[in-house]
Amino acid sequence: MIYTSFDNPGLVKVLTFLKTHNTEYLSGQDLSDVLKISRVAVWKHIKKIISLGYIVESKQKLGYRLTKNTELLLPWEITHGLKTKKIGKRVYYFDSIDSTQNYANDIVNDPKEDGALIIAEKQTGGKGREGRKWASPEGGIWFSIIMHPKMDIGLSTLIPIASSLALRNTISKTLKIESELKWPNDVTINHKKVAGMIADIALESNKIKNLVLGIGINFNVNAKTIENKFKDTPNFYGVCSLADFNKTVSPVEFLQKYLQELEYVFQSIEKGKIKEIVNEWSKYSSTLGRKVVATLDDAKIVGIAVKIDDDGMLIIQDKDKKHRIVAGDVKHLEYR
Ligand code: BTN
Repeated sequence: MIYTSFDNPGLVKVLTFLKTHNTEYLSGQDLSDVLKISRVAVWKHIKKIISLGYIVESKQKLGYRLTKNTELLLPWEITHGLKTKKIGKRVYYFDSIDSTQNYANDIVNDPKEDGALIIAEKQTGGKGREGRKWASPEGGIWFSIIMHPKMDIGLSTLIPIASSLALRNTISKTLKIESELKWPNDVTINHKKVAGMIADIALESNKIKNLVLGIGINFNVNAKTIENKFKDTPNFYGVCSLADFNKTVSPVEFLQKYLQELEYVFQSIEKGKIKEIVNEWSKYSSTLGRKVVATLDDAKIVGIAVKIDDDGMLIIQDKDKKHRIVAGDVKHLEYR
């Protein structure tokens, strides 16, 4: 099942009217007169609204009243009140999909999709970095964002760094939880992974032509179940769920705040504020200053992670020299 932010105008009209009059009952005739649609259409929309998890009370002679919002991440819920210029203004929603990343990659070249958000309640073939699987049960926030940023190629590795920093800041501002950043782009709490990102980047001459940023947030998932299932995956170091720390914010509100923060860091990159992003990321990093091992195609590098460069690459100092790590994973060898 798919819903978008640009289809279903009739349903959204009825829903908006019910939301703005939720203290009173509205008759089918009133809705039909005000919204200029037939009574049959009103009834069809109400049935659909109820099937999407909204609770609508109906009383004979009085009409309908919305008493509870849905918990689904529906497109019109995300776009309503969203304070971004471009990111997330166009939304594709799936109750289930193989991977939002696949769907986004299929439509990425269309100019009208710049800023589009593809979101799913669950994924059946969620993709992680380095060809790994990504557990995506209901309760998480699983989405991909399409961007046509026209940035310099050299900024490719900085994008996931900046995006994970934006997520750390959202978690701190909305949920009041202090999370950490593990290079290259994991967000962790107490050294367990709460979110990960993947970036598919297409290049043209020396510019980024388009980008699909896939983000998986363990918002309200059963961390133990995922840990049991994935504990034997290479580089797996445990999972945690945001709802285990704070349940006061709805996933839609959280996502809206994140999209705002994300747009802000992208604007900062475009304005050349690279040092500021690198410094802020470093401040919250759990990788820097720690003994780590980086596994490359043909070698393992063991040393102290000393800093990230302005392009987001990690510098590891071993007993002989400094190594620049472009991509891949590092394993933290000891915790403070
Ligand atoms: C990682 O390995 O840390 C990256 C995980 C990225 C998961 C997200 S969930 C939404 C999007 N769709 C996918 O199939 N993967 C990304």
